[in-house]
Amino acid sequence: MVNLDKYSSIFIANWKLNGNYSFLKDYYQKLNVNSDNCTIICSPSIYLKSLKGNNENLFCGAQDVSSYKEGAYTGELSASMLRDNNIDFCLVGHSERRQYFAETNNYVNIKSLNLIEENIIPVICIGETLQQKEKKRTEEILSTQIKESIPNLANHQNALIAYEPVWAIGTGLTPTLDEINQVHELIKNFDTKFRNFKVLYGGSVKSSNSKEINDLNHVDGCLIGGASLNVDEFNIIIS
Ligand code: 13P
Repeated sequence: MVNLDKYSSIFIANWKLNGNYSFLKDYYQKLNVNSDNCTIICSPSIYLKSLKGNNENLFCGAQDVSSYKEGAYTGELSASMLRDNNIDFCLVGHSERRQYFAETNNYVNIKSLNLIEENIIPVICIGETLQQKEKKRTEEILSTQIKESIPNLANHQNALIAYEPVWAIGTGLTPTLDEINQVHELIKNFDTKFRNFKVLYGGSVKSSNSKEINDLNHVDGCLIGGASLNVDEFNIIIS
């Protein structure tokens, strides 16, 4: 398993359903990894084997994994198959999967456990919707997501948490810096076992705001969608 303790910050590119061979060839030629940080590229799974970086601090991540270990589940990829392909990280419970693919906290928990058992670090995504935020339910929603999605076996060395407010994803909107820092502090204080977890922020991170967000006390890195598709922009974020 990757040693998370050795990194001051963790940056994850989530390409979502984007990319092709010529895109990734060009991307990897231009990608400029900073060795103090852990950089992870989550491409669509079919391209994971083709992502070749020559830096020990550059890793591949999947965007999802099956909750099943093996069997008659057409179209699925198991955690052990990801391990077989040297994948070190996997996003789990992204809000797009929760919203469009009916992924529940229970599934997120099972998937995360399967990944940990295969020495793959799950990046467990949580976050509130705009309606929940407006009704001041953020703390309650995050608390339930954490309790139900994070397996007991998870700890700060084998799992990561990503706080992605649903309303900030792809919208250009972000919480204020104070709000981000306070929510991350809240997450780390839900239980003593979370105190040392690395918590990443995601939602409309770009080169113009990444430094101020990542510099916050309780932020340990960023999960980047749209801006990660532009390698020049991503290079600035991870520099
Ligand atoms: P954007 O950076 O495009 O807002 O997406 C965030 C995200 O969903 C990363 O997982």
